[in-house]
Amino acid sequence: MSRTGVLFVCLGNICRSPLAEGIFLHLARARGLAERFDVDSCGTGAWHVGERADQRSIAVARRHGVELPSIARQLDPASDFERFHWFIAMDRANVRSILTAGGPRERVRLMRSFDPSLAGREMSDLDVPDPYDWHGDGFEDVYQMLLSACRGLLDVLADDLES
Ligand code: 4NP
Repeated sequence: MSRTGVLFVCLGNICRSPLAEGIFLHLARARGLAERFDVDSCGTGAWHVGERADQRSIAVARRHGVELPSIARQLDPASDFERFHWFIAMDRANVRSILTAGGPRERVRLMRSFDPSLAGREMSDLDVPDPYDWHGDGFEDVYQMLLSACRGLLDVLADDLES
């Protein structure tokens, strides 16, 4: 049985995309679908390669019972565009970077475009904000955005598996 490749992409691969990866895997496991997906995350930048997720992402995930397995890496056009089917970008800058690197336009999506409560919104309303420089606990807001979007994404991909 072939698995559907899903790559979550942000800038640094330490705050948003590791959280999206962990939440998606958690939801997929709960539905007995984890083995149907090949899930990973990466950054368009290389600053944090080899690092675990930001402590604030790890902490908010843990509060919700979600573990983050990610070790940061940079998008690798030579292998990622073949290995993964879907490229799920956290914001429009990430989309541009993926396309500039030669990514397949028809398989690149914005993360929040899968949030059913945001259906019909402009692209400009769909960025997951970059929380790296935030102080305080905005990471809970990012978690909730990613949870809604990951639920929507999993619903869409689970339907695809059945059809
Ligand atoms: P992320 O956040 O893209 O959600 O992982 C960032 C992390 C680090 C940097 C930028 C964004 N940075 O410039 O180092």
